[in-house]
Amino acid sequence: MESRTRLILDRETLARRVAELGAQLSRDYRGLDPVFVGILKGAFIFLADLVRALEFPVEVDFVRAASYGAGTESSGVIRVTKEVELPLAGRHVLLVEDIVDMGLTLDFLRRHLAAKEPASLKICCLIDKRERRQVEVPLDYVGFVVPGGFLVGYGLDCGEKLRTLPEVYAVDTGGGD
Ligand code: IMP
Ligand code: MG
Repeated sequence: MESRTRLILDRETLARRVAELGAQLSRDYRGLDPVFVGILKGAFIFLADLVRALEFPVEVDFVRAASYGAGTESSGVIRVTKEVELPLAGRHVLLVEDIVDMGLTLDFLRRHLAAKEPASLKICCLIDKRERRQVEVPLDYVGFVVPGGFLVGYGLDCGEKLRTLPEVYAVDTGGGD
């Protein structure tokens, strides 16, 4: 672990909120046969817990976009590095993201998926980090709102490290964040 870390979301808090989101999504998507599309890599743990909190099975796919390199700042240049494989035209799609920071990644992927003409396209993110938002993206389901800081754990990484921690911590990256 880094020298300075602070627990932000413990296991119980995460589990409770994921269960609530699962109940809400079960109400909203019942009978719609939705596709949940997780954004790799960060959303894989959240998505895995979320789909198991639903009251019915859903189809799952993944998309990956690269923006952050090994560091903690977005380069601003985003491209799809792993395309969705299921056909999304006419489907009810929920895009599942780990954390929204500046909003650039999600805005890009939302447009990318919208071009595939789904019947509906909504967004679910575990953490809405508002401080540095540059592009307003409609967030339909939000797990937690946090002001800022760099977070790791529960899928979130810092240069590929600390992703598998079961809780969410803020780390001091030394970047003046
Ligand atoms: P955005 O384009 O600035 O919104 O960047 C969003 C992406 O950057 C997320 O999908 C994460 O992968 C990554 N990211 C943003 N903030 C954090 C953080 O605090 N911890 C880990 N990854 C982050
Ligand atoms: Mg991500």
